[in-house]
Formats: sequence, structure tokens, C-alpha cells
Amino acid sequence: MTEPVVDVHLAEDHAARALAADARVGLSATPKVLPPKWFYDARGSDLFEQITRLPEYYPTRAEREILGDRAGEIAAASQARTLVELGSGSSEKTRLLLDALHAAGSLRQFVPLDVSRTALRDAAEALAVDYPALEVHGVVGDFTEHLALLPGEAPRVVAFLGGTIGNLLPVERAKFLASLRDVLQPGEWLLLGTDLVKDPETVRVAYDDAAGVTAEFNKNVLHVLNRELGADFDVDAFDHVAKWDPDSEWVEMRLRAQRAMRVRIPALDMVVSFTEGEELHTEISAKFRRETIAAELADTGFELTEWWTDKQDRFGLSLSRAV
Ligand code: SAH
Ligand code: AVI
Repeated sequence: MTEPVVDVHLAEDHAARALAADARVGLSATPKVLPPKWFYDARGSDLFEQITRLPEYYPTRAEREILGDRAGEIAAASQARTLVELGSGSSEKTRLLLDALHAAGSLRQFVPLDVSRTALRDAAEALAVDYPALEVHGVVGDFTEHLALLPGEAPRVVAFLGGTIGNLLPVERAKFLASLRDVLQPGEWLLLGTDLVKDPETVRVAYDDAAGVTAEFNKNVLHVLNRELGADFDVDAFDHVAKWDPDSEWVEMRLRAQRAMRVRIPALDMVVSFTEGEELHTEISAKFRRETIAAELADTGFELTEWWTDKQDRFGLSLSRAV
């Protein structure tokens, strides 16, 4: 086995410093808001893995079905030497791509990038064992900031799976796609997973499961604030809210204060007041249509060459070439 290399583009105190900046701005805003990347400490990454196995949470199973059917075509079209994966998490579904690219004979390197150190380290170590001929070069970083630092020989396929692009606001999404296009050579590839618009109740329950795992995942951001910034959020005094917004076609997760409260955040020298029923916005998860994602890709310099869905048309996987 070749030992995996892991580059860390986040300083040891990144979590505390960047979280402090986001928390100061977001908790002073109306409505209060925090970026979803702060869910993913070790516990948050583990809770997300539990979510992927819930009966209500269809996106992971739907995307796995498509990858199982199409990985050979993706490998044949791209002939990739490097597979980059953004927001890679456990990289479990990615094994289908690694197997196909290995069988096609082109693959040399796998570059997973994730903000979660623990998820990245665990995945890189497991893959290095299971794919001994593969050079695994993990990057701990933020895909909204560190794309220019990605290693790997062309041609590359950049996989952005799971529908994570839907967790960016539309302006952030456009900026992300443009930044990604900037670091690719013409002819390199983007493999993008997008959850699709469907009946609202199916979407809503995927974000409000009966076992309460998504509620725990949502509330985990308060545990992160307590640990990293010394805050004193009473986590049990917040309710998980998942709401479909038909105009924006996204599901929103929020944390609703059960009572009025004052939360001290010593690292920010700040006291944050909540009124009873006030909601902290923690995540959007946008759902897509083929035409809109194709247009957004075209606007940012990608040509959509393939579009696949699962048999129930729940999830879309697109392969696009940088032009
Ligand atoms: N791709 C996997 C995991 C999806 S969960 C799948 O399809 O199952 C989202 C992943 O993106 C998490 O591992 C989280 O740590 C990571 N993530 C979220 N925001 C990020 C950011 N700004 N930069 C890098 N990684 C991020
Ligand atoms: C990572 N991302 C695509 C997930 C989603 O479905 O938007 C995160 C998630 N939030 C609640 N459940 C899962």
C-alpha cells in the first residue's frame, strides 16, 4: 500500500477563526444565519453518514444507482488520470468510479478534498488500503476557497456528488462553478450530482426523518459553537425545522428557539438574544431541473455532455466538459 498524503490548507485554528467570523456576522444578521459547512466536525460527519442510510433520505441511494449504471461510461469518456472529489466525505459511492477508472487503465491519482479533517483522514486511509496501486492525495480545505491548490495530472474529472452544490446559495453556486472552471483546462471534466425537484412532501421528510437523526445533525452546529467559541447554547431548547420553499425550490433547515434566551459567546465577546420562536437559518438544499443546471453550467464555461437520472427520476448526474 502507498501511504496517503494529506495536505492541510486549513490552519490548526481555522475552525475557531473562520467560525468566529461567520458566527459574528451571521448571528448579528436578520434573520440569523450560519453556513452549513460548520455542521461537519467528527460528530457531524458521522451523523451525515447515518442520514445517508435513513429510509426517508433517498439522494444517496438514487445517486449510487446512477453511478453503478454509468461509471463505465464516465471512465470511457474521460480517460481520467486524476479523480478529484470535492466535499468527499466518506467517498463511499466514489469507489464505483475508482473501480471503473481503474478497469479502464487510466487512473493514477485520487484527490479527495473536504473541510472535515476526520472524514478526509478516515476515507484516505481506507482507500489507500483498498486501492494499493492508487496514489491518494487528500486535501483538507474549503471548496469555496482552495480550488487553485488542487494537485493532480490532467485529464482530471472533478466529482461533486451528493447534491452538495445545492447547499450553496445561487450566487455562491455561480461563483463556485466559475472558480472551478478557472482551474480546469479545456477538455477536463465535471461530474455533478444534483437532487431534482419532486413532490414537496418526499423532499421535506428526507430532511425531517422519524428517527430524528437530521434534527441531531442540524443541532450539531450549536455543539460546534459551544466547543469552539465557548458559547452556552442550550441545545435542547431549539427545535429542528425543515421547510420546503416552493418559490426557490429548496428545502430550508432552521433551528427554532423554544423560548426567549440570551446566549453568551465569550470568544466573540458577544451576547446573542433570541425571541421565543425565532429561527436560526442553518442550511438550504436546492433541488434542480435539467434545464436550469445546464444553463448555469453553460454560463460558467461548461458544456453538458451527458445527463443521467435514477429510474425514479429523483436525482440527476451530469457529466460536463470544460470548454
Ligand atoms: N460527497 C459525499 C458527502 C456529502 S456531505 C456524499 O455524496 O455522500 C457534504 C460534505 O462536504 C461533507 O463531508 C462536508 O464536510 C463537506 N463540505 C461542506 N462544505 C464544505 C466546504 N465549504 N468545503 C469543503 N468541504 C465541504
Ligand atoms: C450534503 N448535502 C447534500 C446534504 C443535503 O441533502 O443537502 C446535507 C443534509 N442536510 C440534511 N440532510 C442532509
